[in-house]
Amino acid sequence: MAKEKIVFFCSECGNEAARWEGQCRACGAWNTLVEETVAKGKSKPGVAAPVRRGGKPALAKPLTEVGSGAEIRFDTGMGELDRVLGGGAVHGSLVLIGGAPGVGKSTLMLQICDHLSRFARVLYVSGEESQRQIKMRAERLGVKGEELFLLPETNLDQIIEAVAEVKPDILIVDSIQTLYTEDSTSVPGSVTQVKQCTMRLMQMAKGEGLTVFVIGHVNKEGDIAGPKVLEHMVDCVLYVEGGSNLSYKILRAAKNRFGSTNEIGVFEMTGAGLREVPNPSELLLSGRPENVPGTCVTSVMEGTRPVLAEIQALLVPNNFKMPRRTANGLDLGRAILLLAVAEKQGGLAIGGCDAYINVIGGLEIDEPAADLATILAIASSYRGRTIDSSVVAIGEVGLTGEIRSVAAINQRLAEVQRLGFKRCIMPVQDKAKLIRPEGLQITMVKTIRDAFLAVQI
Ligand code: TYD
Ligand code: MG
Repeated sequence: MAKEKIVFFCSECGNEAARWEGQCRACGAWNTLVEETVAKGKSKPGVAAPVRRGGKPALAKPLTEVGSGAEIRFDTGMGELDRVLGGGAVHGSLVLIGGAPGVGKSTLMLQICDHLSRFARVLYVSGEESQRQIKMRAERLGVKGEELFLLPETNLDQIIEAVAEVKPDILIVDSIQTLYTEDSTSVPGSVTQVKQCTMRLMQMAKGEGLTVFVIGHVNKEGDIAGPKVLEHMVDCVLYVEGGSNLSYKILRAAKNRFGSTNEIGVFEMTGAGLREVPNPSELLLSGRPENVPGTCVTSVMEGTRPVLAEIQALLVPNNFKMPRRTANGLDLGRAILLLAVAEKQGGLAIGGCDAYINVIGGLEIDEPAADLATILAIASSYRGRTIDSSVVAIGEVGLTGEIRSVAAINQRLAEVQRLGFKRCIMPVQDKAKLIRPEGLQITMVKTIRDAFLAVQI
């Protein structure tokens, strides 16, 4: 029998350590190191042996002789998912769908089975639910595919046998943390097991041209290995985000070998499963308060799509204690910088205020185009004056308080007009290149003080 040794792996990033430590040295996460037993001399799970099962070893070829046929893609029947995948799923790829438990990963995968099983054979393997449970859920979601096969199984070797028997075109595995292979003595959900199982699924995808979707739970406690451990191995990593209290979910690509990672997909969780939201702006702006200080709407680009988002700020005098600053959906460093610019260049004495900044709807903004709206929301809350609810503000703010231009302004303006806004505060632009949407008043401003005047705050 092979000798065994005990090592520790971080369940966040998969980093290996010889002894237990409170904090992972690689990713800095706390309490994520877990003990695992591995065969001696083969300490890196899944990495040591890239065995090709039943195939000839690949030969190196000159680049000029390699065929360049474009990847074959197919629709999943969910436009929002196709968009994030880069225009449909790629035949023979392995896609990892990550997200917190209960966010809707299984629902999304089962829902796409309805469309997929119309033109392909689908094998849905679940280690979490019985056939009856899946059947009940499928009925509720209106999934009725002739070519959809269900298999409740957690043993990877059995799953590989089932694949050989059923010969599916598409394999869905729910979830990677419930799978185990007898090659390793570690428990299911451990770093060694999830890596080895993913490796074998990856070999199957590449070797047999099978498209594989794998669900992976993200959990903060670190008792099971998260999808981060697997990110480098797979073709695409998509995360479903949105707390259980939010009815809508955002699908985001963290890695995509076949497309951009900038696109997001938006879904709403309803009684009959996930519903696509092709126009997220409407959803993000629904329930917006009118005629109250501290809110301003902006337009941000999510991939190729402009999305309108509401930014709120709340400034509260704190009686000379250390001021608190928090930011949700916006980088905290950026928020602090904008508060400093508002103070110094905008003449607002906000140094003695607590400041809370929030992007409504769980959107994560990493674009400077939202700067101007953030500063306007800050100024509006500080002065207690309302910004007209038909106004949108777009523009990057520099350290001297200047408003700088942003990319894709015409697309943003078109979305602003589509949603019925009447006025846009924006940076000075070359008039020849600007397409002015009808009925939208455009006010170009050079500094944040100009912008304060323009919206009368
Ligand atoms: P699920 O897909 O099971 O989550 P995950 O696989 O990511 O753990 O979805 C979980 C939640 O979605 C569950 O709390 C109930 C809710 N839900 C609906 O609101 N409507 C539906 O039609 C379905 C199937 C689930
Ligand atoms: Mg599930």
